[in-house]
Amino acid sequence: MLEDLLEKYPQQEDQLIEILLDYQSQKQHRYISEEEIARIAAHLGVSESKVYSVVTFYTFFSTEPRGQHIIQVCKDVPCYINGERTMRSVLEKLLGIRVGETTRDKRFTLEQTSCLGHCDGAPAMRIDDKTFTNLDENKIKAIISEYRGAK
Ligand code: FES
Repeated sequence: MLEDLLEKYPQQEDQLIEILLDYQSQKQHRYISEEEIARIAAHLGVSESKVYSVVTFYTFFSTEPRGQHIIQVCKDVPCYINGERTMRSVLEKLLGIRVGETTRDKRFTLEQTSCLGHCDGAPAMRIDDKTFTNLDENKIKAIISEYRGAK
């Protein structure tokens, strides 16, 4: 699967982020393994450490298997001063995991992220591709319960 995807892209370093985004979005558990980092580096003719540094720099990439839904709580200043810590602990309690962990049933992974571009609705979080703003405890409970009910 990775080789098929790599064939679609020119062997140029400036394609790196596009390749990583494309591949991770298609892969089960949405992560990029060390072995895949090496294969991508070889395809582009760049060092493995270059690819690894990109994967570990951006919060939307992961080197660890993740859950079906990825919850990312914004940790930047506007969200922080509007209750990010409380929202994070509500999520940790509801899910029974800490930031950086995945629930045992592999449904949810909880992460922190930089600004989601919705500071006027702080505190904010993203689940997969959807952003939720003006969070409070009840809103978070309703959102998680909705995701738990969905397949
Ligand atoms: S700081 Fe949280 S959305 Fe901008």
